[in-house]
Amino acid sequence: MDIDPVIREWLRLAGQAPSSHNTQPWRFRVHRAGIEVWTDPARSLPVNDPAGRERIISCGCAVLNLRTAAAAEGQGLNLRMEQAGDGPFIRLLTGHRGGADRQGLAHLRDWIDVRHSWRGRFHPASPSAEIVTSLVQAAYQEGAWLVPITEPEARRAVVEQVRAATAAQWKDPAWRNELAYWMRAPSHGDGLPVSRFGGGLIRWSMRHLVSARAMAGSEARAARAAPLLLVLGTRIEGPMQWLMTGQALQRVLLEATRHGLCARYLNQPIQQNEWRPKLAQLLGGGPPQLLFALGRPDGTPRPTPRRPLETLLKH
Ligand SMILES: Cc1cc2nc3c(=O)[nH]c(=O)nc-3n(C[C@H](O)[C@H](O)[C@H](O)COP(=O)(O)O)c2cc1C
Repeated sequence: MDIDPVIREWLRLAGQAPSSHNTQPWRFRVHRAGIEVWTDPARSLPVNDPAGRERIISCGCAVLNLRTAAAAEGQGLNLRMEQAGDGPFIRLLTGHRGGADRQGLAHLRDWIDVRHSWRGRFHPASPSAEIVTSLVQAAYQEGAWLVPITEPEARRAVVEQVRAATAAQWKDPAWRNELAYWMRAPSHGDGLPVSRFGGGLIRWSMRHLVSARAMAGSEARAARAAPLLLVLGTRIEGPMQWLMTGQALQRVLLEATRHGLCARYLNQPIQQNEWRPKLAQLLGGGPPQLLFALGRPDGTPRPTPRRPLETLLKH
C-alpha cells in the first residue's frame, strides 16, 4: 500500500520516541480510517520488564508523537485502545476524526527530533519554578501525575532505593545478559549503541565484569546530583494507565526539551517488585511508573539509531 507522504512523516516522527533499551517495540498499520499502533511482543524485555509495562509506556510515547505531528498539521486523532486476541497485545486505534486534539500539542512538533536521553553529567542549576510547573501541567494534561522530589529526606530515601535496586539488578545474570543482548552496533538500527569493533568486549564486561556495587554507587550519585528528580505516576495500575504514562512522559520530555533539558532515567526502584511499593509509600499517590532526572546536559546528547520505517509497518 502506498502511504501518503504526510502520514509517512508522522510515522517517522512516532518512531523517534524513546523506548526501554531502545527496543522500539511498536508497529504501525495504516488504513483509510486511521493508523493502528501495535505493541510488538517480539521486542519485549522478559527480565527487565516481565509484565510488558515499559513496552506499552514506550508505545504511548510513540502515540504522543503521532498526535503531536497530526496536531501540527491541524488534524485531530481519536484514540481507542483494544485488546487484540487473547494474547498480551494491546491495539491502539487512532482515527482521523478531527477536533480531538485541541490541547495545544502543535508547538511541540519541532522538538521531537531534538529530544534525546542523556547519561552524562548535568549542569547543577535546577530548572526554574515556571518550568517545573509547565512539566507538571504537561503530565496532568495526559491524565498522569508528576511529582518533583525536593524534600531532603525524601531525596535521600529515593537515592538509597536507587542504590539498592540497581545492585539487585546487576546481581542478576539474566538481567545483565538481556542488557548486553540489546547493546549493538548502530547499523542494527535499534538497541543501545556500542562500536562495531569494541562492542563484543563491552557486552562481555556487562555480562561478567562490571561490579554491581560500582553500578549501584554511580546510579545513586546520579540520583543525588540530579538538578530535578521526578516521579511520573498514575492513579491506578493497568495497560490503559501505562499507555497514558507513555503519552504523559513524552509530553513532559518534549516540553523539557523546549527548555533545553534532557532526561536521565533512574527507574530501577520501579522495575523491581520489592522496591516499587516502598517508593509508592514514600510519595503517597497511585502507582509510580517512571523515575527520572532532568537537567541541562554538560555536553551534547547524540541521537540513538532508529529502524527504517518499512520494518515498522504491519500489513
Ligand atoms: C519506558 C522507558 C524506560 C526507560 N528506562 C531506562 C532506564 O532504566 N535506564 C536508561 O538509561 N534509559 C532508560 N530509558 C531510555 C532509553 O534507553 C532511550 O529512550 C533509548 O535508548 C533511545 O534513546 P533516546 O531516548 O535518546 O532516543 C527508558 C525509556 C523509556 C521510554
